[in-house]
Amino acid sequence: MNPSPFSLRTKLILSFLVVIIFGGLFSLIIGWRLVKNTLIGQAQLKVKHDLSAAWMVFNERLNDIKDIIALTSARESLQQALKENQQEILLKYLQKVRRGYSLDFLTLTNAQGQVVIRTRNPGWIGDDQSLDELISRALQGEVVASPQILPREELLKEGEELAEKARMKILPTPKAAPREEDVETRGMVLKAAAPLLDEAGNILGALYGGILLNRNYEIVDRVKGIVYKDEKYKGREIGTATIFQHDLRISTNVRNKDGSRAIGTRVSQEVSQAVLKEGQPWIDRAFVVNDWYITAYEPIHNIKGEIIGMLYVGMLEKPYLDTTNRLMLTFTGMASLCVVVLLILLYFSTTRIINPLQKMVTATQRIAQGDLSHKVEVTSADEIGRLAASFNAMVDNLKEANKKLIEWGKTLEKKVEERTKELTAMQAHLIQSEKLASLGKLAAGIAHEINNPLGGILIYSHLILEDTDKNSPHYENLKKIVKETARCKDIVKRLLEFARPKEPEFTLVDINEIVEKSLSIVERQVLFQNIKIIRDYDSHLPRTVADGAQLQQVFTNIIINAAEAMDGQGTLTIKTSRDSQEKYILISFSDTGHGISEEDKKRIFEPFFTTKEVGKGTGLGLAISYSIIQKHKGTIEVISQPNEGATFIVKLPIRNKQDEEKT
Ligand SMILES: Nc1ncnc2c1ncn2[C@@H]1O[C@H](COP(=O)(O)OP(=O)(O)OP(=O)(O)O)[C@@H](O)[C@H]1O
Ligand SMILES: [Mg+2]
Repeated sequence: MNPSPFSLRTKLILSFLVVIIFGGLFSLIIGWRLVKNTLIGQAQLKVKHDLSAAWMVFNERLNDIKDIIALTSARESLQQALKENQQEILLKYLQKVRRGYSLDFLTLTNAQGQVVIRTRNPGWIGDDQSLDELISRALQGEVVASPQILPREELLKEGEELAEKARMKILPTPKAAPREEDVETRGMVLKAAAPLLDEAGNILGALYGGILLNRNYEIVDRVKGIVYKDEKYKGREIGTATIFQHDLRISTNVRNKDGSRAIGTRVSQEVSQAVLKEGQPWIDRAFVVNDWYITAYEPIHNIKGEIIGMLYVGMLEKPYLDTTNRLMLTFTGMASLCVVVLLILLYFSTTRIINPLQKMVTATQRIAQGDLSHKVEVTSADEIGRLAASFNAMVDNLKEANKKLIEWGKTLEKKVEERTKELTAMQAHLIQSEKLASLGKLAAGIAHEINNPLGGILIYSHLILEDTDKNSPHYENLKKIVKETARCKDIVKRLLEFARPKEPEFTLVDINEIVEKSLSIVERQVLFQNIKIIRDYDSHLPRTVADGAQLQQVFTNIIINAAEAMDGQGTLTIKTSRDSQEKYILISFSDTGHGISEEDKKRIFEPFFTTKEVGKGTGLGLAISYSIIQKHKGTIEVISQPNEGATFIVKLPIRNKQDEEKT
């Protein structure tokens, strides 16, 4: 597996970061839209209210005019003067009224609607105004007021300056609907008309008057003053109000770039379509002259209900956008700060997760290097803590298994050692047997050949000795010949005994008894006088099939050897026992003598090996014993160290009568 280029901590932090960044961006976008919609929504609601306020100002001015006209027309003196056709008085009085109430025009007609007094343009009278909707209604006794569009001829009648004031160059405006003419000559007026009655209630005429709205900023500036308190944003008016004659700005406080009022510019095509054509209010953002505004437009109707223009209020969108942006900037700043704080927290919390893991990695490395004593600290109760605990448990198990493996290895080693020892012993045993066999053959041949001549020598030398006088000088020599020949005969006999051992005569015997018999023969000898004999017999020793006489010969030889090794002084311990499986009888003879060297131990069972001085030992005792025990299918072993005594162990199989019959 390729190592990852990123650490666990980096991966954790990166994945958290992705989540945080995506979440942050998502909430930022949602937040931005929400804030914007809320703020703009509120602004739109405000602008809607502002439009109502603008209508109030607009209608207040219209009602003002209506009141002036109504009150003036109701004056008796005026009615009287009209009745009596006192032109001079009427003109003077009405001119005073017009000036007093700042009306642009004030005109009186007779009952037929023909102008009798025109205060602004006294020279132009006699024209018929009865076709005018307002005047016709007034002539029918109604007091009416309404905005109205007046064509240039009508304006000219009321006064040339008025017609000029109304005349306006139509300026090219981006987004506005196409329009053929490039000059507007008509004007929009707020106009009221009222009847003049005599005492009997007959209509004497009609008084009408009003103001021209074109280039008259009284209403729009009042709206701005009342609603927006003339507030400014970065040197620009926040609130604006406009009166449109159709789609043309005739009275406004929206400014051109040069600061002049944007008179003669037009509304955008979409607003024109919605408000002027469809008669719908428009509340939305709109591009006004050269800025984006949150705007409200509503149609202005004349007395017949026809749409003749629009009333508009609008707030600069920029302060709202700036507020939104400021809010978003703060929001983004705070979000970034949160991300930084989160990252720091994340760094520390990942440390808490990663540290124990790192410890675990170190631990696994140490364990992999064989240090099973190493433990991981368990500091928490969570998954990592549990992992550490089970890791430790695993290491314990591993340790245990390892220990068992080592023990098992040791046991195996021991077993191999034991087997090797057994094999070596067996091999030595085989060599010994073969050596003995070939030696036996050789010895038997020689013994056989010299046995008969020896017999002759012994008999004849004995006869000569009997016939020789004791004082003869040959007597002692003859005696020596007889003695040495007898010794030779004995050696040869023993040699033959070893080389051609007699077949054992098997009977059921008691081993303890045989040991005791052997002891009774030697015990009385001088050699044993200072020797302590310890008998450690197994009283439940089973009887076994064996040749009792041959066994006695073996035991006697071992006992004498022990006594000789102790030089007649020491302790001889004789122990009989059974092996754990009750298959063998063990007879051990331990002395406290001079012991046997490693070198000699290999040779003691060889015939003629003796360390005793010449004439004392022939070295056949153990060789004969070995062949006897072999015939009994047993073994004979020695354990000894120089100067630490020796122990001879005879091991005999436990056999009963049936076994013997089988053999
Ligand atoms: N208990 C013992 N302690 C020390 N050495 C022993 C002991 N038994 C036997 N030996 C040694 O083993 C040799 C061989 O013994 P073995 O009985 O075969 O012959 P021997 O005693 O020397 O002569 P023989 O028994 O023929 O008279 C001995 O000479 C002696 O060195
Ligand atoms: Mg001996």
